Amino acid sequence: MKILVPIVLLSLLTFASCKKTTEPIIIDPYHDAYIETSKVLDVPEIAVDYAPEFPSYLTRNGFITPDVDNEKATLGRVLFYDKNLSKTNEVSCASCHIQEKAFADGKKVSDGINNRQTTRNSIGLTSAISIGSSYGSGTPSSFGGGVINFFWDDRAESVAEQATQSLASDREMGMSMHEVVSRVKENQKYYKWLFMEAYPDGISEDNILDAIQQFVNTMGSFHSRFDEGMEANNGNAEDDFANFTVSENKGKQIFMEKCASCHSQFAARSLVPVANNGLYLHYQDKGRGALPNHTSAENGVFKVPSLRNVALTAPYMHNGSFATLDDVVEHYISGIKNHVNLHPNLTTYGQPGLGLTHADKAPLVAFLKTLTDESVRTDKRFSDPFK
Ligand code: HEC
Ligand code: HEC
Repeated sequence: MKILVPIVLLSLLTFASCKKTTEPIIIDPYHDAYIETSKVLDVPEIAVDYAPEFPSYLTRNGFITPDVDNEKATLGRVLFYDKNLSKTNEVSCASCHIQEKAFADGKKVSDGINNRQTTRNSIGLTSAISIGSSYGSGTPSSFGGGVINFFWDDRAESVAEQATQSLASDREMGMSMHEVVSRVKENQKYYKWLFMEAYPDGISEDNILDAIQQFVNTMGSFHSRFDEGMEANNGNAEDDFANFTVSENKGKQIFMEKCASCHSQFAARSLVPVANNGLYLHYQDKGRGALPNHTSAENGVFKVPSLRNVALTAPYMHNGSFATLDDVVEHYISGIKNHVNLHPNLTTYGQPGLGLTHADKAPLVAFLKTLTDESVRTDKRFSDPFK
């Protein structure tokens, strides 16, 4: 039987070619499946390269290029933008993580399914080289500081765990993983080819979460003017950058002196993973203090966020309470409250405050804007693939 089929095919082919010159019939199940996918999605048949190329100053400082599987990241991109993965087909990950806004959403709190809202501000997903290199239990602690996990209260250990929670939350997508798997199976029309390419063992909970993780972990941001300056200065943040204005260089100097102890001199992996930064004397949202088995010693303690693309991710803080970077810097100049858990890096001689003056505001804001990487807003690899 096995030998017969090709012979029959071959003779059919030769027979057909006697009549007129036709193209050879190639039976390619991958290509056929791709045709179906391409009716719904704008994804290339040969996966694009997701592997990042870091500036050498980051590599030299121990930031390691993550392993990227292009086919898995391609599938992750589709899952990230697929509204069918929410209970009411209203929202996808991308509804609250918008590319234009460096994957934050511009709102104080985010809109989930059924007109419900999240209790916290969406977090931009472009950290220095990838969110998984900055956060997560898999991160080598040699960068300084402890393990930094996901969410404002640091409660999820991996993007996969975080994604499970976002999918499950009835304020976000309202879906169990079991339901997510069924939805993907219902949409075989465009998912079949993507899974054939990425996971020959097929559609499963683990593969779905892995693909999302692969995609989110390729969202590095290292083409800012700050990166250019660092690269030109061989990673020396102390000297002035030739590509900066006087004000930006002044702001850089203040940042390195007053802010980098927590947010890091590379504006990369935070040196202090979580802290209280004195927003209030009494917090409505207790942050880590509200987690099971945590004590009041962690009330008002939140993630020290990445500042990459911070000019694009307004409003700010866990509750979106500051509308602009001016407001944030004003907080650090005059608003730091003497909360019992206030981090010592935000005190001077035991008193709350950094000794900043109003003259420091414009330079600091100008510096924070140099952390913007315009390329992340338009990079097609991270854009909505749905036609
Ligand atoms: C309804 C809006 C909404 C949806 C949908 C949503 N997110 Fe989020 N996301 C948020 C908010 C709000 C936070 C911060 C929540 C918190 O800290 O408690 C967050 C946090 C995160 C973080 C943590 C970042 C960090 O630095 O700790 C990641 C990663 C993330 N989301 C990825 C995703 C992925 C992947 C999906 C889809 C599976 C998704 N989100 C769906 C609103 C949303
Ligand atoms: C003790 C460590 C620490 C120091 C020092 C520090 N920060 Fe922060 N920063 C935090 C924490 C923690 C948050 C989040 C707090 C929250 O949401 O409740 C934060 C939030 C921010 C945000 C908001 C980011 C976002 O995505 O919402 C900006 C901007 C910022 N800091 C800038 C600065 C600047 C500028 C300085 C120096 C003047 C500075 N920080 C010093 C810990 C610190």
